[in-house]
Amino acid sequence: MSDNPLSSIKRDTLDLIYRPRRLRRTDALRRLVRETHLSVDDLIQPLFVVPGEGVEKPILAMPGCQHLSIDRLAARVERLQSLGVPAVALFPAIEDHLKTPHGAEGANPHGLMMRAIEACKAAAPHVMVIGDLALDPYSSDGHDGVVEDGVVLNDPTVHILCEHAVAQARAGVDIVAPSDMMDGRVGAIRDALDEAGFDQVAILAYTAKYASAFYGPFREALDSAPRSGDKKTYQMDPANAREALLEARLDRVEGADILMVKPAQAYMDIIYRLSQASPLPIAAYHVSGEYSAILAAGERGWLDADRAMVEALVGIKRAGASMILSYYTERFAQQA
Ligand code: PBG
Repeated sequence: MSDNPLSSIKRDTLDLIYRPRRLRRTDALRRLVRETHLSVDDLIQPLFVVPGEGVEKPILAMPGCQHLSIDRLAARVERLQSLGVPAVALFPAIEDHLKTPHGAEGANPHGLMMRAIEACKAAAPHVMVIGDLALDPYSSDGHDGVVEDGVVLNDPTVHILCEHAVAQARAGVDIVAPSDMMDGRVGAIRDALDEAGFDQVAILAYTAKYASAFYGPFREALDSAPRSGDKKTYQMDPANAREALLEARLDRVEGADILMVKPAQAYMDIIYRLSQASPLPIAAYHVSGEYSAILAAGERGWLDADRAMVEALVGIKRAGASMILSYYTERFAQQA
């Protein structure tokens, strides 16, 4: 009698035609049947720009991300270009004394955002620069639109966003990304850009942007949390999916070039639905809270953060996104 406990297991062969494990047997087989491939071509690096020179200050709530002054930003984008990263998305951290109720700094041709766009294009002309459009970085109220008597006004905000879009286009932005969720902004921005001669500047619409707790680390990084209230009167209710189809239809007829879902990991069904329903390319934003949660668990030794991050990004792509805004982009590109 053997003392091997396995010697007692039944070894009769089952009569199976299909044994899916056959194709999982070796790494080579698994590579042959792999359905989704994540590559640096799919990734967009969001970057935070601050005033000053020589600044490269870690953002505590977002490990691996920094506040960069324009000189450091330019060097970073050059490095990303050499790593093959196709695009960056810029977010400015505006000084408090420049924030006003109407966010005029967002149209200042010599402001931080415009100088950042120019510096990126000069340093790395092949990297597409995406400019976020919303009032919150420039607003003394911390909302994405103009606030009057506690209400975020739609149409006046849209007019301001059009000015911001044209100012960014003059600075050389390749793509504008309205993240404000005002109604009708995509069509108005398209008209304003075309009238100013920028028919080649694309619009990446934040189509289904949800009122999410996962933006926490980002708002801390930019000190852009609303001073009062929340964003539920313009960002979508996390419980809604069919409403995203309405937003997608509106953005498409208004002239959006790319539709975005945000956040990503908690909204895979929305990514899937939009990718099935629309012929436009779908972007997904793996947002700060989704990114930092994985890294925080990794720091505690609860999971392998690099593997978990890639798994999350592959899942987002498998769901139907053809591009992903990810704070992990540079690290992924370095390992690729
Ligand atoms: C603001 C904006 C936000 C993000 C991108 N643009 C935050 C918000 O809506 O409050 C979040 C990005 C992230 O969390 O990574 N217009």
